[in-house]
Parts: sequence; structure tokens; C-alpha cells
Amino acid sequence: MTNLLDMRNLVAGYGYGPDIIHDFNLQIKKSEVKCIIGPNGAGKSTVLKAITGVLKPRSGAVEFEGKDIAGKEAYQIMRQGICFLPQERAIFPNMTVAENLKMGTYSLQDKRLAEERIHHAIETFPVLGERLHQLSGTLSGGQQQQLVYARAFAIQPKLMLIDEPSLGLAPALVEQTFQHIANIASSGIAVILVEQNAFRGLEAADYGVVMDLGKLVFEKPANEVLQDQRIRELYLGKAAKQ
Ligand SMILES: Nc1ncnc2c1ncn2[C@@H]1O[C@H](COP(=O)(O)OP(=O)(O)OP(=O)(O)O)[C@@H](O)[C@H]1O
Ligand SMILES: [Mg+2]
Repeated sequence: MTNLLDMRNLVAGYGYGPDIIHDFNLQIKKSEVKCIIGPNGAGKSTVLKAITGVLKPRSGAVEFEGKDIAGKEAYQIMRQGICFLPQERAIFPNMTVAENLKMGTYSLQDKRLAEERIHHAIETFPVLGERLHQLSGTLSGGQQQQLVYARAFAIQPKLMLIDEPSLGLAPALVEQTFQHIANIASSGIAVILVEQNAFRGLEAADYGVVMDLGKLVFEKPANEVLQDQRIRELYLGKAAKQ
């Protein structure tokens, strides 16, 4: 199968500062889930920003479905089918659940298609269907989290990039969130996630991508990364030693 995303020799950095990402390579195919792990400041979020056009690559190639997207604007990249859930995942609290879902599909010209997708998102996240007219800010934390994923799902992207899905969430919500990610992935959407909780992230993924100091250390099937003793000590932290 050909690559959906093919990033080669990416170099990226901020403003006039030094290069943060050096010669980074990352590929993903349809329906795959890859989890990027590495210490704080390794450049994980920067890689996601460089894919989505939030940050323009300094050099290297980023191809999506065979088309060069490096240097394109974020909205153009989004329209190609890449959806980015950055660390701060905002909903619109003063809008209803239905309005929030509509915001996800606003760029679709075909309104019937937009409605179908929203309908499909509600089927996948049924709690929201009972609360379509409720203001989103009054939902529980878990329901708000469902709304974030349902809205992304309604966009029907081909690739979803998720930065730190579990950050700041209570343990029960972490499990729920990973269930949402699994649902999304099983619908054929490729997912690249960055996760501090390396154990949980790798469990959800087909492949683990280890990075440090802006470079790829290695990439392996996620279960091999989970079993690698050196990686357990280095990247999986205390939890691995128990
Ligand atoms: N907006 C910015 N301007 C300048 N430097 C930045 C900016 N954002 C990140 N950096 C720098 O780029 C490097 C990589 O940061 P990045 O956020 O990609 O790391 P990360 O692997 O996502 O870390 P964390 O696990 O803490 O989220 C860091 O040295 C950071 O200080
Ligand atoms: Mg980060």
C-alpha cells in the first residue's frame, strides 16, 4: 500500500532560532496508528505543526497522497484531509452541541453531505445525540471530550494528528478518549498521536516512533517498543519499572 503521508528529511525551527527538527522521516499508510514518544522538548509537537502547516518546514519534503504540501497554508492542508487536534482542544462553550458539530463541517459546500457526516458522528458518539441543543460549556468533562472527537470525526479526515490526548484528563477520561481514538482509527482514518503516557499511547498504536533532540531514534512495531528494556527505562518512566 502506498503512503498516505510521506515526510522526508524534514528540517524545521521557529523564527530566526536554530533548527529544532533535523532530517526527520515519517510515513503513514491508511488506517495505521503511529505514536510518537520522546522526552520533553524532543520536538514531537513541532513535527505535528510542520505537517499541518502551523509551522513552515525549512527544508525537506512533505507529501500527502502524493502531493507536495510542504509550505502550504494550514487551511489548505486541512482541506486535503488532515485534521489537527492540538494540545489545547477548544470547543465553543456558548454554542450548542449541534452548532459545534456544524463548525466542524462548515467548509463543506455540500450541505446534505455535511448533515450526513454530523449524523454519522452522532451515531458514533451517541451521548451527544441526546444533548444536541445543550450549550457545550454545560457538558461534563467527558462529554466535552466526546464532542471534540465527534467534531473531528465529522470532518472525515484521512489523517488525524492528535497532540497529547490524555494530558490533564482524569484516568477514567483517558480510557474513554483512547476508546474514541480506537473508534476513529477503525473507521479507516490514519492517526498520528503524540503521548506523554507512552504506555497508553503505544498500546493504542501499530507503530512506535521514538524521537529525541529533534531526530528519529527509531521506529518499530509498538509492541516491540513496549518490550524493549532500554526504551522502558528511558522513555516509559516509573510505570515501566513496577
Ligand atoms: N513557539 C516556539 N518558539 C520557539 N521555540 C519553540 C516554540 N515551540 C517549541 N519550541 C522549542 O522547540 C523544541 C521542541 O519543542 P516541542 O514543543 O516540539 O517539544 P515536544 O517534544 O512536543 O515536548 P513536550 O513533550 O514538552 O510537549 C523545544 O526546545 C522548544 O523550546
Ligand atoms: Mg509537545
